[in-house]
Amino acid sequence: MAVKSPNLMSTIVNLCKRRGFIFQSSEIYGGLNSCWDYGPLGVELKRNVKESWWRSMVTHRRNIVGLDSSILMHPKIWEASGHLSGFSDPLVDCKKCKERFRADHLESLEKCPKCSGELTDIRKFNLMFKTFMGPVEDNTSTVYLRPETAQGIFVNFLNVQQSARLKPPFGIAQIGKSFRNEITPGNFIYRTREFEQMEMEFFVPPEEDQKWYEYWSQARFQWYIDHGIKRENLRLRDHESDELAHYAKACVDVEFLFPFGWSELEGIANRTDYDLKQHSEFSGKSLAYFDEESKQHYFPYVIEPAAGADRTTLAFLVDAYDVEGEGKNKRTILRLHPSLSPIKAAVLPLVKRDGMPEMAEKIYDELLDDSIKSFYDHSSSIGRRYARQDEIGTPYCITVDSQSLEDQTVTLRERDSREQYRIAASSVSEILKQKMKDALK
Ligand code: GAP
Repeated sequence: MAVKSPNLMSTIVNLCKRRGFIFQSSEIYGGLNSCWDYGPLGVELKRNVKESWWRSMVTHRRNIVGLDSSILMHPKIWEASGHLSGFSDPLVDCKKCKERFRADHLESLEKCPKCSGELTDIRKFNLMFKTFMGPVEDNTSTVYLRPETAQGIFVNFLNVQQSARLKPPFGIAQIGKSFRNEITPGNFIYRTREFEQMEMEFFVPPEEDQKWYEYWSQARFQWYIDHGIKRENLRLRDHESDELAHYAKACVDVEFLFPFGWSELEGIANRTDYDLKQHSEFSGKSLAYFDEESKQHYFPYVIEPAAGADRTTLAFLVDAYDVEGEGKNKRTILRLHPSLSPIKAAVLPLVKRDGMPEMAEKIYDELLDDSIKSFYDHSSSIGRRYARQDEIGTPYCITVDSQSLEDQTVTLRERDSREQYRIAASSVSEILKQKMKDALK
């Protein structure tokens, strides 16, 4: 098992700030606890994570379609789903220092772990953020920020199934923000109060639930490996029966070895027909599926792979982080999978004269025209420029030198092997596209 230094988290937080991946939200006002802003490189990285998920879950699948439902929904949805009554954490407060703790995270409820003061009895604390719809702030106008994207999918089950003419087994996928008033957020973007989920509800004939549960557990585990996470840093962990959410018959977590220990990246749950039945009962409109062949109505079972875009982004950063050499030769490399790297190629004229910048800029423009996110840099020594790109995970550097002006070739340098070879300047875009395609095989 790879051992990670506990300092790795602060190193990564610093790198993220210095290079423009992730900033503390509202920093100039002292920050807002557990809220983070994605900077120019972070937004590209997280978009690539989400796009890779969407490609593998929707674009490349015959029987999975997408949805983008609203964040604010009818409050009855949360009654039906069980979130109003069941979505809570057990809390205790210290009577002396006033610190608040999750009771299930404490080793003992005898005394405060900080000041040894007396603790209150356990109270249930609902995790949903509440707000009001319209100008009047009373009970009739209360709405909630969704704590999971899944419910938007369940309440649209028949809209999607009928409009897209789908037959179980089929899936509905959604990426979007969710909100939870977490009592103990922390570990950078691992546990926050505002986060993005990537969820897919897969509706299957009830007798096929186990087969699809196993299929999605393996498929989702493999997705992380295909996108570069080392196998030894990933594991599948079955939930014990007392850990299961109120709607789940079974659940397995994909866990990653973070510097703070093994922690969940994604859960794959068998939600049975719980949600479709609950919404049918609470709305008075049946969400049963009509099977044309048997001429029968039935409630499909649901297998749900539910991942977090922020957590996943953090795992990719942690896993990719590498340091080579020591002292003056120390070099940081983010070995991100090329499909996730925020910048795919840096175009670098060896010197700032003799026509090299002009040739390099032409290649740079061609790459941008071909939708290959690239970066042009002509400042400082070539070694330092390579090092700057390694640190942000750029997989390819293209260097224009004096030979380029004579024979129209350039150097392609690969980040991980540091191998360098010459290719035709006119083929840079094609070669990079092929390399990125090959990396996904
Ligand atoms: N629809 C099922 C569901 O929401 P969950 O395990 O509560 O299940 C799914 O959440 C995923 O959402 C988690 O595996 C995690 O990646 C992400 N997630 C949940 N709470 C989060 C938080 N407070 N901060 C960041 N990501 C979170």
